Amino acid sequence: MRKPVIAIDGYSSTGKSSISKIIAHKLGLVHLDTGALYRGITFFALKNCTSTDGNIDLKNLFQRFKEINLEFKQVGDELVVFLNGRDISHDIRSNEISQQVSLIARQKEVRDFLLEMQRSIADKGGVIMDGRDIGTIILPNADYKFFLTASIEERTNRRFLELQKLGMETESETVRKNLIERDRIDSEREVAPLKKAHDAIKIDNSNLTKKQTIELILSHIS
Ligand code: DC
Repeated sequence: MRKPVIAIDGYSSTGKSSISKIIAHKLGLVHLDTGALYRGITFFALKNCTSTDGNIDLKNLFQRFKEINLEFKQVGDELVVFLNGRDISHDIRSNEISQQVSLIARQKEVRDFLLEMQRSIADKGGVIMDGRDIGTIILPNADYKFFLTASIEERTNRRFLELQKLGMETESETVRKNLIERDRIDSEREVAPLKKAHDAIKIDNSNLTKKQTIELILSHIS
């Protein structure tokens, strides 16, 4: 039997990736955190494509796509993102990347560059992919689509704790501002904006634990 294709979209820090990872494990699916791809491009750009003022030079980045080899490799039971052979899964969680990634993700050139890679991973089925445009653009024919939201207070708390666990020093207010700004840029961009697919199931998990959110999603999957 063909395994399902599941799309999970939603706002930053609604738990999309960690929830998708657990569901993948339970259902025997591959989990792809597509945000890691945009973060990976941002990481490359900050290392290789900045102008003298320190800002990312987008034209330069677009000319250098052929130098970017982003791959997901199985490490233990996780798919870990590698850039040109180097595990960047930790580096891409930094505040610097979080502050720049929406600028990168709103570029049509970047989205086109990553489109086919994402679609080809889902070709064989058996995949749960989380992001912002999975149900609308990348996998419009997904078998199941979910759209996660939560209050900004709850999301700030979650992200703050996540960064603390990673040993990254930050202020709660910095995290809050970054989330609001990212949501704004992601929702207002012209290309593939963050929005609920018309046929996605919306879940507000402000008052749900991770376990309850997972159970709710699973209750919709037959
Ligand atoms: O899920 P995340 O916070 O790691 O995503 C990082 C950024 O990438 C976020 O600001 C939105 C963008 N993104 C996107 O535009 N489309 C996706 N499918 C996934 C992420």
